Amino acid sequence: MESRCENSVLGHGDLRSRGSKHNMTEQDALLDEFESNGKAAKDTQASMPVKSTSNFTLILLIVMVALTWGIAATAYFGIVDYKAVMGWKEMGPVETRSSKAVPDSDPENPPQAKENEKPGLNKEKAKEPISHDSVKEPDKKKVEPIEKETEKKTQENKKEKVKKKPNPFTSKEDKPILNELKSGDKLLKKGKAKEAELHFRKLIKSNPSSPRARFGLAEALNALSQQLKSNSVLQECIKAYGEVVQIPGCPQALKKQSLLTKSDRETFLGQLSSSLKTLAVLAREMPNDVEVLNKLGVGYLMINKNSKAKQIYETVLQIDPDNGFALTHLGFIVKNEGDWVKGADLLGRGVGSLAEGTQSGKFYFHLGDALHRTNRTKEAEEVYARGAEKGLFRSKYQRSLYNVDRLQSRPFWTPKEAGASEYVRKLEQNWKMIRDEALKVMDVEKGLFLEEEEGLKNTGNWRQFTLFAKGEKTAECNRVPKTCALIDKMPNAKGCRRGQIKYSVMMPGTHVWPHTGPTNCRLRMHLGLVIPKTGDGARLRCADEYRTWEEGKVLIFDDSYEHEVWQNAESFRLILIVDVWHPDITDHEKRTLSAI
Ligand code: LMR
Ligand code: MN
Repeated sequence: MESRCENSVLGHGDLRSRGSKHNMTEQDALLDEFESNGKAAKDTQASMPVKSTSNFTLILLIVMVALTWGIAATAYFGIVDYKAVMGWKEMGPVETRSSKAVPDSDPENPPQAKENEKPGLNKEKAKEPISHDSVKEPDKKKVEPIEKETEKKTQENKKEKVKKKPNPFTSKEDKPILNELKSGDKLLKKGKAKEAELHFRKLIKSNPSSPRARFGLAEALNALSQQLKSNSVLQECIKAYGEVVQIPGCPQALKKQSLLTKSDRETFLGQLSSSLKTLAVLAREMPNDVEVLNKLGVGYLMINKNSKAKQIYETVLQIDPDNGFALTHLGFIVKNEGDWVKGADLLGRGVGSLAEGTQSGKFYFHLGDALHRTNRTKEAEEVYARGAEKGLFRSKYQRSLYNVDRLQSRPFWTPKEAGASEYVRKLEQNWKMIRDEALKVMDVEKGLFLEEEEGLKNTGNWRQFTLFAKGEKTAECNRVPKTCALIDKMPNAKGCRRGQIKYSVMMPGTHVWPHTGPTNCRLRMHLGLVIPKTGDGARLRCADEYRTWEEGKVLIFDDSYEHEVWQNAESFRLILIVDVWHPDITDHEKRTLSAI
């Protein structure tokens, strides 16, 4: 079973760092999964999210809101894979147009909190105007003895206590059928989803203007879709939630609950733009609701609209300057835009808030990185150590976030330990052919080696030429056919869907920031092809150990550990990087783990 090294189940969707053509940064493996949302849903059997049945006491509804959050949450590096909660295997999710029942809204133009509605800007309460009335002598005749007055007040208080608070989810249209609504809820609570569905359908027939009856139907369909693992029932459920909010007089709380669940279910099906649209509708109606805005921000991040998400989180922070969720998310965006100082500040405050959704490996990861890159090395180390203590990382050095827990690990491996002796032999025997093919591509068509775009480089020039990625051969193989033919005979390398095979050329004066690969499921082989001996040389640090390359020799390390590279020689360094499945990964895992 794969885990994310993360003990927090509740979070809220995922983030995607942007700005590079190669979307997949080693640090943000997950991000890749947003891109392939539909695809991802297909290759992973959904682990069904827990969903509470409806019971319309206020407390239960609060619990429901929390649970709904939890479901949406799995998008970032949470224990549950984002795609693990998306669509069912047998019916791949299909992006549909969002329910017609929902009024149109424009996710391109997220709602802004209205200036005069921002509590953050309007904190001071208007002072009561002092009028003559306010200093008027009390009407003596009306004054009652103090004991009597106190007694009266106590009685009133008691009465108030007995008087039930109005249920914010119930409208006047629901009142005549409260008992029927309750019995539907009971059916749902007992897990009788089908019966509940029929019950609510009948209720709707006789009471078409009851928002709660329609909501009950949506809830029943939601439960039923989970029982049957049916995407088409889920689609019906989504439609039903959309219809709830169309009913005139639908209470705000019920609207919010319906649209949040609708959006969550849409995300589950991989319908990310519909989900975003749903949130945008809600946010337009409730422009100061930070819970809604925070989710809307995640919606934008999930479709890689980071600048829109940024606006949303800035708005949230105007309303609620200490909102931890918004702080971490804005910090993440800003940090990935390259503003490490501001990113560290925001992420630090967000993570420090301990608020729900902030204790994620991803935020600790980027906070540490931002601190490190701004020379706050000691603080970075503390953040990593804290992340490891919290179980967000496997250790302070091994900070990959897509992990299979039981795998043995160490920074450097021998070919035998890696179960790769045969591959190493073949690579070393053929190293000159591999080098010559690379040099030909480098010399003749320099443009083919692409700049490393994951933002891992501090200084210098580092380029790559990719032959296989995520277990798929690239078109570049046509240019280096012999090398690819050799790799073709290495199933654990060419089929490593959590790795790449690429040439890597590094120019003198290059320093690669300490960084960590996304997963512990692979080991990384480096075959030395052109290794300069002059100057200060080129070297690699992995965890606490330093190594260098040798021409014609393979070096194996686990890149889920922090590693760092310096190239201070006088000419370029060329290697072939070959990722292989970790020897403890089973055949079943090789087939089923999501590609990274
Ligand atoms: C890495 O795998 O991060 C680097 O070691 C690659 C390289 O070219 O040295
Ligand atoms: Mn690396």
